[in-house]
Formats: sequence, structure tokens, C-alpha cells
Amino acid sequence: MLAATSITRAASVKYRSAFSKWLAISRWVRGRSCFPWPVGRSYSTSGAVADLRYDSRREAPAMTVLPSVAEAIGSTPLVDLARVTRGRPGRVLAKLELLSPGLSKKDRMARQIVEDAEAAGELAPGQTVVELTSGNAGAGLAIVCAVKDHPFVAVMSKGNSEERARMMRALGAEVVLVDQAPGATPGKVTGADLERVEEVVHRVVAERDAFRADQFRHPGNFRAHYLNTGPEILRQSGGAIDAFCDFVGSGGTFAGCAAAFKEQDPGIRCYVVEPAGAAVLAGRGVRDPHHRIQGGGYALAELAHLRPEHVDGYLEVSDREAVEMARRLAAEEGIFAGFSSGANLAAAFQLLAGPCRGQTVVIAVCDSGLKYLSTDLWP
Ligand SMILES: Cc1ncc(COP(=O)(O)O)c(C=O)c1O
Repeated sequence: MLAATSITRAASVKYRSAFSKWLAISRWVRGRSCFPWPVGRSYSTSGAVADLRYDSRREAPAMTVLPSVAEAIGSTPLVDLARVTRGRPGRVLAKLELLSPGLSKKDRMARQIVEDAEAAGELAPGQTVVELTSGNAGAGLAIVCAVKDHPFVAVMSKGNSEERARMMRALGAEVVLVDQAPGATPGKVTGADLERVEEVVHRVVAERDAFRADQFRHPGNFRAHYLNTGPEILRQSGGAIDAFCDFVGSGGTFAGCAAAFKEQDPGIRCYVVEPAGAAVLAGRGVRDPHHRIQGGGYALAELAHLRPEHVDGYLEVSDREAVEMARRLAAEEGIFAGFSSGANLAAAFQLLAGPCRGQTVVIAVCDSGLKYLSTDLWP
């Protein structure tokens, strides 16, 4: 008994001394400038001044009981893609957004927009929320709206994979599917298809006296990534990243992360990724708007969230490259993701072969490969 007590006491002393060492190191680390909290400057795409301090309540919720699944959004792992990158000059770090409750990075903007709108009085208790979606924003909004008691209507082009509509319905959303523009191909959603979806959104918002989440313009989309995704990446990597590239849809992820990175270290270069043949943001015009990289590449000439001063360059990725890299992510890294994640990896490899040779590039793994089981991404 005595022996057991002294062993326990010895273990406790050892534990306490290890803990105080850890505390001292973490205090020292927090004091270093490469760590990004609190975030000091104010950004808002609407021009409104916002409280942009990093929200530590969103941090590492895994070991506590959460009041709802909405609190499980974010705090995703950052993984070194050391296997697929073997033999290439440099590193690629991947932010695993596919592990979010809605299986995509769009959960973050869904929660932020709804919470910001509620706080600003733009969204009343019980009011219906409506949004145009390629399926991922809709899944995120369906989750957040279910938890916060808002009816949700998702308006989506039929060009997106059908499992997305099924998932949103399962999460309690009403899904309105919109026919594609004449001549369009299923699986390839263009700006023309989005225009049709937009018309239906306007009608539904008016009919239901609803709140339009408006991911292409609402500052909550930008803020979700400026306050959380970007700072998380900086803290997880110890600030040791050289570049970031992202396939853009609304541009919220790119813009928010780029703003957080540049604020911390203006030397971190940020690249917009577009589909080959539809690099409109790069100013190269549209040769072919039809591509298979769902969730973005809509050939829209202007995206409200993007700030030109945060864009260091533009990269183009073909369907073939996106598919090949999504398959390699699954087979070599065990990361089962979708087309746009493959596009991000392909773009990161372009950077390692070019301006970022020997450096560290960070990408998002945007959504789960489960969302593409009905496509030929997985043979
Ligand atoms: C799978 C996927 N990849 C990329 C994007 C683009 O992200 P963002 O809208 O933040 O630019 C989206 C957006 O819906 C998406 O669903």
C-alpha cells in the first residue's frame, strides 16, 4: 500500500514537473511573433468594422461535451502529405476539411453567416434561410439551421452530384433542383447554370420572406476563414508555410485564409486556382466553361470576397489532373476527397515545380469523396 502510494506520489511529481515545463514552453511559444493570436487588424468585405480576435472557444472541442454538432465544425487536422509528395522538392500540408460534420469546408461559412446574421438582427428566430449551393454550403447550412431551428431551403443545379441533394434532405432541408442551361452536361456546372439557380433563389426568398445566406457576398463567409481556418493553419504549422493555393468558388476560403496569412507574414504567397480553359479571374477569358471540378470555377469575372492585393498569382488545373490527384490522395495518403481537393494538390505540385521549389505549400482538402460516389471519380 505504502509502495503504491509513493509510486503514485512520484508519478504525480513527475507529471507536475512535465506539465510546468510544457506550460513554460507554450508561454514562450505564445510570446513569439509567428503565432497569430490575437489577430489585430479589422477586415470585412462589407466595409463594416468587425471584432476579428481569434475565437478560442472554437478551439479543439474534441475532448469536451459540446452543446451541439455546430460546435464540432472547424479545428480540423493539418497533415503532411509526405507520401504523395515523395521525390518532389518541397512539402504540401493539407487541412482536412472533409472531417467536418457536413463533410466539407463549407460548414464553417454556414455557421459564421448564420451566427453573424442572428447577432446583427438580419435573421430572426425561426425565420427561413435560403441559399444557392453546389451541395456543400447547403449541407453546412442544413446542419446549422437544424440545430438553431431555422427551416432551410437549398437551391441547387441538377448538374451537381445527386448524393448532395439526398444528404441535404436527410439533414432536414427542402431541396429545389434547377434544370441546367440548354446544352450543359450533368456533372459540369457553369456560370450560366448558376444564373438560373439565382433566379429561383430570388423567387423563393420573396415567397417565404426568407433570409438569403448569400455566400458570394455575405462577410460571414470571409470571416469564417479569416477568424478560424487561416489562424488554425498558422498555429498548427508554427507559421512555417511559404504558400497557399485554393480552387475558388465563392472565394471565401481563399480570401479569408489569404488575409490571415498576409497579416501574419506578407511573404506567404497566395494563389487562386481555376479550371483550365475557364481562368476568368486570371483575365485569360473562357475557352471552355465545362469542367468537372464541382464547387467552383464558375467563370465569374468578379468575386466580392477576393482582394487583388492578396493574390500573388493564378494557376490552372485540368479535369484530368484533378481526377488523378484526387485518386492519388486516396490511394497513397488514405484521404478520400473530391475533385477540388485533387485540383488543389495538382496546383500545389505546380508551385513546387515552379516558384515555390523546395518550400511548404498549404492546401485545403475541401470535401469528402463520399459526395462523388455516383460519378466516375471512383472507378
Ligand atoms: C467541393 C468544393 N470545393 C471548393 C469550393 C470553393 O470554396 P469557396 O466557396 O470557399 O471558394 C466549394 C464551394 O462550395 C466546394 O463545395
